[in-house]
Amino acid sequence: MKKTTGMNRAATARWRPATRALRGGTWRSEHGETSEALFLTSGYTYDDAATVAARFAGEAEGMTYSRLQNPTVAMLEERIALMEGAEAARAQASGMAAMTAALLCQLKAGDHVVAARAAFGSCRWLVDSLLPRFGIATTVIDSADNAAWEAAIRPNTRVFFFETPANPTLDIVDLGFVCGLARAHGITTVVDNAFASPALQRPMAFGADVVAYSATKLMDGQGRVLAGAICGTKQWIEEVLLPFQRNTGPTLSPFNAWVVLKGLETLPLRAHKQSEQAVALGRFLEPRITAAGGRMLHPGLESHPRHQLAKAQMEATGPIFAFDVGTRERAFAVLDALELIDISNNIGDARSLMCHPASTTHANMGAEARAEMGVTEGLLRINVGLEDIQDLIEDMDQALAAAGI
Ligand SMILES: Cc1ncc(COP(=O)(O)O)c(C=O)c1O
Repeated sequence: MKKTTGMNRAATARWRPATRALRGGTWRSEHGETSEALFLTSGYTYDDAATVAARFAGEAEGMTYSRLQNPTVAMLEERIALMEGAEAARAQASGMAAMTAALLCQLKAGDHVVAARAAFGSCRWLVDSLLPRFGIATTVIDSADNAAWEAAIRPNTRVFFFETPANPTLDIVDLGFVCGLARAHGITTVVDNAFASPALQRPMAFGADVVAYSATKLMDGQGRVLAGAICGTKQWIEEVLLPFQRNTGPTLSPFNAWVVLKGLETLPLRAHKQSEQAVALGRFLEPRITAAGGRMLHPGLESHPRHQLAKAQMEATGPIFAFDVGTRERAFAVLDALELIDISNNIGDARSLMCHPASTTHANMGAEARAEMGVTEGLLRINVGLEDIQDLIEDMDQALAAAGI
């Protein structure tokens, strides 16, 4: 197998983002295939016993077992690291496998974590339920309040954990400030960059230590597989993450890795076009929603309190936004009247999808936590896809009218 492109080659470092997304991490076999090969194998064979012993001892390069390495998965890891501007990346079985591994691999009983209160429901479950069960204290704060990050630091604070933009309230964290604060206190930042993808935002450029992904979202981009990834320095990945990953096994299947590799080829194009469409649909909706007494939560619109910051730290503001129509009844009426946009709780897909977070993605967290993070009963979240924007506007127009908005 020939590594035609690799992270250590000077050429790849010069490549611009679209080239990295399409060609980064391509290893070609002796057949010279254009598209990456799919290695559906759990194990490997060896010419002699000394070879396998050297590989297990870490003295020779080469695959030993697909929980540890697989050529298709390795291609994906190399491409994601290159797109992120990270020294290394490891693929994970899902986004939640990535978040769990990124936290548990480095924390122990007696540590303290500061986390953003606005977050995907399962990410909040890690912070509110899982970590405390193992003696790890957690504090949740308003992530848009820079002073709150500083005030929450304790002598045993080890990790800052947050999403930006956050699911589903689109809170924006000041990456430069929060990552700088963490560095100054020897705290590791773990940023969930699922809403943006490396095509729109690269948190490491602002000082983030670890960037974790649900690759199920924009990276796949076509709603096919679950996948995740964690990016960091080579040393952190090898010394902190790998011992945890090797022995607990949240490994990505080679097939799913191959699907995500295909998704990444078009990621920059999709992410930018879907961001443009999200701004256009948001501009159409905003006067209607505000006239009806509702709220728009859209980092791409001037009305978002951190619109300027979002524009400064993101190349484009992404395909997802939310808006509040007042009550659960009205929100359900809008969803039920949709003719083109699907009712679905996934995001990052090339299809437009809409959901009611309070009864789906954030249902399990309890009414109090939902109220605290602004997941109201009238809130709807939309992922804007690649359909003709006029068709999307017409569908929203008729669905709002049907709901009396
Ligand atoms: C911000 C965020 N992080 C993590 C996840 C979890 O990803 P997965 O569904 O791939 O486990 C999601 C899924 O919706 C998400 O929106």
